[in-house]
Amino acid sequence: MHIRYVDGAPRRLEHFDPQVDLTAADVAHVAEIFRTPLDGAYNWDYHVADDRIRRLYELGKELNWNAATDVGWGQTPDWHAAPAPTPSRVEELLTDFPWNGYAPFDAFDTQQKLAFVRHEVAWALSQFLHGEQGALLVASQLASCAPSFNAKLYAASQTFDEARHVEVFNRYVRSKVGFTYPVTGGLKDLLDKILTDERWDLKFIGMQIVLEGLALAAFHTRRNETDDPVLKELLYLVIRDEARHVTFGVNYLEEFVATLSEQEREERAEFAYQACVVSRDRLIGTDVFRYFGWDVDHARAALVERGLNADFLNMLYARIIPNLKRIGLLTDGVRPKFEEMGVLDFEHLATDGDIDWRELERPLDLEG
Ligand SMILES: [Fe+2]
Ligand SMILES: [Fe+2]
Repeated sequence: MHIRYVDGAPRRLEHFDPQVDLTAADVAHVAEIFRTPLDGAYNWDYHVADDRIRRLYELGKELNWNAATDVGWGQTPDWHAAPAPTPSRVEELLTDFPWNGYAPFDAFDTQQKLAFVRHEVAWALSQFLHGEQGALLVASQLASCAPSFNAKLYAASQTFDEARHVEVFNRYVRSKVGFTYPVTGGLKDLLDKILTDERWDLKFIGMQIVLEGLALAAFHTRRNETDDPVLKELLYLVIRDEARHVTFGVNYLEEFVATLSEQEREERAEFAYQACVVSRDRLIGTDVFRYFGWDVDHARAALVERGLNADFLNMLYARIIPNLKRIGLLTDGVRPKFEEMGVLDFEHLATDGDIDWRELERPLDLEG
């Protein structure tokens, strides 16, 4: 085993060679250390309360799936075996492509346009992969630091869910895309903050409300947009799990936040607000713009102006704002700031659309 320690996340694209079959001895691990003053907690009362957290734990076990066998990987060829797209397929891909009409994109020839489409998918899927790794690390911290028994069991089951998510996105980018982008700065900052903060409940808020909300918004948006049946299928499975994770966070935090002092609550609310700002401003594929030689600031402004991430942001706020309200973090301190962002109206949504127990309990539809 070779481990190479680095000071920060790599900034280069990684290309996969389909011909190479690596053994454990060939793999060179690139690891970045983070330090965290994690306060762990034993729980010495093994009484099991028959509550919503226990029910979620049972659901997690019942709705387990296998990334290797429950996804129809063979429905589409792997990237290195895929035939060149037919002219009608090219037209399908490029008509209505959201960057049409942006001068630097219009200046591309067809091959460059197709490459851009592929890079955009690679960037997004790479962020899913990096985000899932972050979720895996945070969920494992929660198993250790959550103070109550059911929450520990639940966090352990979530840890396994997140491991499957890392597995399934990793396999998808390797087999269907062929290369990955490095983690984007905004996502890395959010993960660093959540993983290294010493307050366990802030990890909970950061992970179960903000990151899971982000994940759900991004996965739903991508599932609506893609016409790849493999990606649709695996996103269906992942979304089912993430909806349980958010529900866990909301149910647990609803009771916990009520025990905090006003100042503590304001600190948590400010953190959630800052995370929303990062999500709005810094989860943008600027590395793709850079790769294609675009002026990054200009392209970012064009993206905002054209509302290219509007669906994602609407889905994000439609989840995060009602959930923050429900757990008591839409405080007087942050309300005006959310108002200024123009997203306070979302508080009137009854609840996050993914917290629907009937939906959560539905058996997995592995054909669809
Ligand atoms: Fe996940
Ligand atoms: Fe999750």
